[in-house]
Order: sequence, then C-alpha cells, then structure tokens
Amino acid sequence: MGTNPIPPPAARRSHKGLRVLVASAVGVVGAITALTVPAPAGAAASTLGAAAAQSGRYFGTAIASGRLGDSNYTTIANREFNMVTAENEMKIDATEPNRGQFNFSAGDRVYNWAVQNGKRVRGHTLAWHGQQPGWMQSLSGSSLRQAMIDHINGVVGHYKGKIYAWDVVNEAFADGNSGGRRSSNLQSTGNDWIEVAFRTARAADPAAKLCYNDYNIDNWTWAKTQGVYNMVRDFKQRGVPIDCVGLQSHFNSGSAYNSNYRTTISSFAALGVDVQITELDVQGASAQTYAAITNDCLAVPRCTGITVWGVRDQDSWRSGDTPLLFSGNNKKPAYDAVLNALNNATPNPTPTPTPTITPTPNPTPTPTPTPTPTPTPVPGACSATITTTNSWPGGFQSEVTVRAGSSAVNGWTVRWTWPSGQSISSLWSGQQSVSGSSVTVRNAAYNGSIPASGSTTFGFTANGSAATPTATCTSP
Ligand code: XIL
Repeated sequence: MGTNPIPPPAARRSHKGLRVLVASAVGVVGAITALTVPAPAGAAASTLGAAAAQSGRYFGTAIASGRLGDSNYTTIANREFNMVTAENEMKIDATEPNRGQFNFSAGDRVYNWAVQNGKRVRGHTLAWHGQQPGWMQSLSGSSLRQAMIDHINGVVGHYKGKIYAWDVVNEAFADGNSGGRRSSNLQSTGNDWIEVAFRTARAADPAAKLCYNDYNIDNWTWAKTQGVYNMVRDFKQRGVPIDCVGLQSHFNSGSAYNSNYRTTISSFAALGVDVQITELDVQGASAQTYAAITNDCLAVPRCTGITVWGVRDQDSWRSGDTPLLFSGNNKKPAYDAVLNALNNATPNPTPTPTPTITPTPNPTPTPTPTPTPTPTPVPGACSATITTTNSWPGGFQSEVTVRAGSSAVNGWTVRWTWPSGQSISSLWSGQQSVSGSSVTVRNAAYNGSIPASGSTTFGFTANGSAATPTATCTSP
C-alpha cells in the first residue's frame, strides 16, 4: 500500500501565553455570516467556495495558525474557501496538553479567523492514536477510556454549537487486507471505543454532524474501505449516532485515485450518512485527477463538500509532492479544473435543506440551528411531521419537524402510534417514553423554545418497516 500518511509524533506544543477565550460575540456573528449565497444561475462563480455553493456544497482548506500572519496565504485562503479545518490546532496534544487542562488558544485562533471571515469550521479530531499528548500515550484500559470521554466533553463543549462537523474518530482501521481495526491504546480499551466516542460527542453537541474520518478508504475494492463501510452500516442499524464519513483522500503513488471512488462515495451515502472529502491532496496535482475527484463528489447528492489539505504547495505536509491547487500566489491547472467542474454542477442536488442559524441582535454563546421556516404559519400551538430520511431491510431513520403556530412555543410534546410493530432504537434531540405502540417525545433541554412560526427537529432510528404515522403536537 505504499506511503501511508502516518504523521510524525506531535510536532506542536500548545501556546499557553495567549489564552484567547473563544470570542463568543465575534465567533457567533461570524457563524451567521458563514451562510453562503449561491451565485445566480448561469453566472460562473470565480472562487472555489462560491462555485461549490451553487450546488449547496462547500469548498474548504486546512489552515495552520502559524501561517495566519502571512498575508499572501490569508488572501488566497480567505478568497477561495468557505470551510476551514485546523490542520493541527484542535488535535488532542494541542487542546489537552496535560490531563484535565485544556488549552484552546491555537484552536480558537483558527476558529476565530474562519468565522470572522464568514467561513464554517470542521472540527478535527477528537479520538485518534496519533498526536496524543504524552500523558495519554501512557494510559490504558478504563483510565484511558475515561480520559477519552473527558477529552471529547471538554473540546466539543468548548465549541458547542459552533462546529459544522467533528471528525470524532480518526484513522481507527488497519491498512492491508485484514479489514479490521488498527491496534492502538484506544483499541485496547475495547472494540466499543468508537461508538462510545460518537455517543459522547452527540450528547456534548447535538447540533454538530459527527464523522468517522480515515485514509485509504477511497478505493472501493480495498479491505479497509469495506471494514469501515461495515462499521458504518452497523452503526446506522443499531442507532449509534453517526452523520458522515470523511474520506481523507491523500492520493499518491502508493494510494492512487481510482475511478471506483464514485462507487465508494455513493455506497457510503446510501447508508444514510453524508460523505465529505476531508484532506484532499494529489501527488503531482494532475488537473485531470482533480477534475475527476470533484465530479465524483458532485455526482452524489450527499457528498456535501471538499476540503484540500492546505492552501499552497509550500504549505502542504507533503510539499515535495506539490499536491495542492496553488503554487506561491498562482493558480495551478488543477485549480482551473476544479473550478470548472464545480461551475458545471447541477444546482441544488442536496435533498435535505442546509440548516440555517437564526441571527440574534446580541449574540448568545450557542446559536440555535433552525430549519427553514414554512411560508404560512400553522395556527394553533404546534404541529409535527415525520419524514423518513433513510431505510434499510429491517429498519429506518426519520426526522420529525416540530413547528410552532402563530405564537411562540415553550416546551412541546409530540405523540404518535406505530401502525405495525415498529420500535425506536435510538432517539436524539428529544426525550422519549414508550407505552406499547404509543410514542411520546418531549423536547430536550435545549430545543423546547420555538419562536412563532419557527421550527425545530428531532430524529430517531427504528426497527421495522419505514412508517410515517400522523403525529400530534401539544404545548403546555
Ligand atoms: C498532518 C498535518 O498536516 C501535519 O502538519 C502534522 O505534522 C501531522 O498531521 N491525516 C490526518 C491529519 O487526519 O490530521 C494529518 O495532518 C494528515 C493525515
């Protein structure tokens, strides 16, 4: 399998001096402006971010906090990209250098730069064998398990409501033909460590999408790809909260782009998760390969965005491979190929609406994501509609939209009866009680208040055949 992107040991130390609390005011305002406005139909967009937004997608880059003082770098990064991943600054060694002592100074620098410039942020990464601080490397068993949970709570809690998607678990599968897990201290705590990480992250920030992220899972025929696919399918069937799969897509001679990449993307998407290309770089940056990769994502509605792993070749972790879209201040042929592909995409293929963030005059610490309001307000207290978002043999996933009428709602209860023996296996963003075939779901602590004509959602996975019974909504 050639060169695998196994990173060198932690090269970064946290920056204790400048303890920048997340600028809640600026940060939240930034998160609001991050909503991208699609270019008018027919007009070709002139930047990667705007071109991707025409089909409801994003185009992102990894940002290194140490380069934010380079104005050539920030000029390109700010102009071209509308999603940001911190290249190292939100990793375990950076955010928890000593057990129980969190340091968000470098992570916040990247976060604040992104939102102040109208970009959204992918969080990277919470549970990983790589770039662990020394104290974590020496832990094992239940003590390491607890440290992982505490770490996720600390980091996800700090950025609660501010992150588009978290790479909850990174690189947990082995290379080669086993299709199984990589051995690591985390794996030795028990095979369920991955699902524990996802459940912990969901509870800590129900608004963030939760992704599994890995490399060498791009080629559909590889055992590692199949291993991850089987895990995601199992998670969806058992109701483990997972929303997306990140294909790192570091392509080089040992792990080359293959035209079955589109099959990989669409196969993961068919499990009911979003797919994101999270760390794209291509050795040599062939324009043709970059175009093919972009078109593969564009062909799958649930491929929601592409992130390249750095701005210019000189910024790349593999700069010798010249794998990126810019060289110095110049756009490379691969840049034009990607931009053209994005401009030729069919508009808005994404089936689910992009959640929007309600602007508040005085920014509050946590923005409330609300789905697009309906044009006509529903009279009465509240109403609820169930839709099926995914189904598979023996199970399905649903989203329930709870809508306020012409007055605001403070607390809601949704009830329905299953027609043919269905049962909920996992429910999020609400509290359920079940009596026979009758289901009652009350609001969670954070989503009981809905403004007049506004709405919120909760979701669940269930066993049985997909059903959309009529639901009633009452408000105290
Ligand atoms: C890399 C960074 O780019 C380097 O700066 C660092 O020295 C090592 O890590 N997979 C991942 C990324 O998930 O976090 C890695 O980033 C590249 C491989």
